[in-house]
Amino acid sequence: MHNAGATGDPTDLRPWDRLPAQQQPDWHDHPAFEETCRKLLAADALVTPAELRHLSQTLSTVTTSDTLVLQGGDCAESFHECTDTHTAAKLDVLDRLADRLHDLTGSPVVRVGRMAGQFAKPRSQAVEQRGALSIPAFRGHMLNSETATPAARVADPQRMWRAYRASDAVQRVMRAHRGPTGDTPDATGPWSSHEALIIDYEARLLRRDPDSGAVYLASTHLPWVGERTRHVHGAHVALLGAVANPVGCKIGPTATPEDVLRLCDALDPGRTPGRLTLIPRMGRDRIGRVLPPIVRAVATAGHPVIWLSDPMHGNTVMSRRTGLKTRYLTDIVAEALAFRDIVEGHGQRAAGLHIEVAAGGVTECIGGPVPGEEDLPRHYSSLCDPRLNLDQATELIEAWGKSTPAQRTPAVSRAGEYTG
Ligand code: PEP
Ligand code: CO
Repeated sequence: MHNAGATGDPTDLRPWDRLPAQQQPDWHDHPAFEETCRKLLAADALVTPAELRHLSQTLSTVTTSDTLVLQGGDCAESFHECTDTHTAAKLDVLDRLADRLHDLTGSPVVRVGRMAGQFAKPRSQAVEQRGALSIPAFRGHMLNSETATPAARVADPQRMWRAYRASDAVQRVMRAHRGPTGDTPDATGPWSSHEALIIDYEARLLRRDPDSGAVYLASTHLPWVGERTRHVHGAHVALLGAVANPVGCKIGPTATPEDVLRLCDALDPGRTPGRLTLIPRMGRDRIGRVLPPIVRAVATAGHPVIWLSDPMHGNTVMSRRTGLKTRYLTDIVAEALAFRDIVEGHGQRAAGLHIEVAAGGVTECIGGPVPGEEDLPRHYSSLCDPRLNLDQATELIEAWGKSTPAQRTPAVSRAGEYTG
């Protein structure tokens, strides 16, 4: 499918080009910037309008049926792991977890990978200290390299094109894995998703559906707005509010009910069931205080959103012994179950989980087969945040799938140094 002219017309209104955007690279004077943008504008769409209609239809049933959603994958994908073999292994993890959730609950489970485009990371600190040297932070393979040298950390716009090509390779494997979906409204994926962070990239992958005339984001099926860029008058919200794709939005512990209502209005002005997925990521200690008034406000306003728990990003701690970022499975399970209690306690559906999870027995989070901090260095390969391994993620799924309200305990405090 070719660019049908959604962005080629200079009279197009593109508010995201003028609105403030956090977390953007300063690469516009790079000699390759314009040429890379031209290639992206002319490139084939990575997802089709038919696929988006299919997913939208499936997500609308999530708001009215017992269908669940499992969204998972890397914190940051690597360009070097976009091979067929790596992708098959990632899809296998997602399938196993979704199948386990289905076995436990009897519900259909829609699978959504943090895959085929999750190449850009927002960072709390723009620089990091390497001995005496202060170097720019790693921002994902779409921008720079994880290699800890000043040269490798310079943002290079040509990486946007590599990200497009890598996304295309992963999309092909995911599409084959889905098989022919035809017109069945209950297809369970796997669909692609990533944080739509880099406006230079995303805005050049807007396309127009020749049948409906609608503008859609052709970089992924389900883009989401991250916690650091969810400003209601910012570029990211304007962009995702304008596309036909279903969209997500992270909701962190500083969000107020008013913030979230404004985000609902901006991201789902038509109040389309399942168009907007809200993804609270509060932290085990904060969710009990912050989430209830938000769920109450959204429910009272009647926004037909999907509620997913991200029990990872509010529970990141620094392991003092190893200097590695980690997360405790006990915190993750506690937040996920507290989320369920709160959402269901307000008569809404807790529709599932958004997690960071990896194949290959990684030792990045503590719990289950990774008993303590000293076990972390054994197989720590994340480019960014610590991911659950398959056993740990299965424990989380089982806790979710088996729990009944009476078994769940309220979130309690853990002493520690929370970083996220
Ligand atoms: C992420 O999902 O990797 C992420 C950065 O999340 P958040 O925006 O919630 O911090
Ligand atoms: Co992350």
